[in-house]
Amino acid sequence: MRTSLIAGNWKMNKTASEAAAFTHELVQRKPASPSVEIVIAPPFTALDSVRRALGTESSIGLAGQNLHWADSGAYTGEVSAPMLKDLGCRYVILGHSERRALFGETDEIIHKKLATAFRHGLKPILCVGESLAQREAGQTTQLIAQQLRGCLAGFTPTHLAMLTIAYEPVWAIGTGKAASPEQAVPVHQTIRLFLQNEWSSAIAQETRILYGGSVTPQNVSSFLASEEIDGALVGGACLQVESFVTIADLAQKRTGH
Ligand code: 13P
Repeated sequence: MRTSLIAGNWKMNKTASEAAAFTHELVQRKPASPSVEIVIAPPFTALDSVRRALGTESSIGLAGQNLHWADSGAYTGEVSAPMLKDLGCRYVILGHSERRALFGETDEIIHKKLATAFRHGLKPILCVGESLAQREAGQTTQLIAQQLRGCLAGFTPTHLAMLTIAYEPVWAIGTGKAASPEQAVPVHQTIRLFLQNEWSSAIAQETRILYGGSVTPQNVSSFLASEEIDGALVGGACLQVESFVTIADLAQKRTGH
C-alpha cells in the first residue's frame, strides 16, 4: 500500500516571518490524524522559522526545494544536503522543470544531486515532465523514459525505496491548465512500467508517483480517483492555508479515513 502524499512547493514565495505565520495556522487547521502524508517545501531562508513553528508537530514533513551535490565547499549561493538535514528536512525536491529550464539543470546534474540526497538519507521527490511541444510531437513517453534513465541510472533498490516521482507536465505548471486525468494516468503507467523494467515489479508497485501542475481543491479529487496517482505536488494552491488544507482533506477522504 502506498501512502498518499500531498506536497506543497512554495517556490520563491514567503519571507521567514510570513512562513512562520502560515505554519502556525497550518498546524491548527491540518487534518486530524492524517492518513495522508503532508510535506511542505519553503524557500531555504524560511526553513528554520517553519521548523520552529511546527514545534512538536511531526506529521508535517519539511522539504528543501533543491540542493548542491557537494557536502560543503566553494559554491557561493548553494545549499548542501547536511544543511537541509540539520534544519529538519526529510525530503528534497529535485529536477523541477523550473530548475531545468531556468537554471540549466540536466539529467546528469540531477543524477548527482539524487546520489547526494540518497547518501544523506534525504528522500528525493524527482520531477519529470514534457513541454507542450514535446507532447504535441508525440514524444511524451520517450522523453519521460529519457529523463528517468538519465536521472536514475545505476541506483539500487535500496535507493529507489527512498524515491518519490512527480509527473509535472511543463505546460500545466502555473498555467491554470491542469492535465486531465486521461492525460496524466497513461504517463503514470509509463513511469511505473519503466520502474518495473529497470528494477522490479515490487519497486514499481511501491514507488509513489505524484501529479503536479495547476492542482487545485476543485480538481485534486479527479486525479486521486485513479489508483495510479498517489498524491499531488502543489504549487500556487499551497500558498494559502485554506486551499492547501482542503487539498489534504480531499486526499484523506480518498483513503476512507
Ligand atoms: P502550480 O500548482 O502552481 O501549477 O505548480 C506546480 C509545481 O510546479 C509544483 O512543483
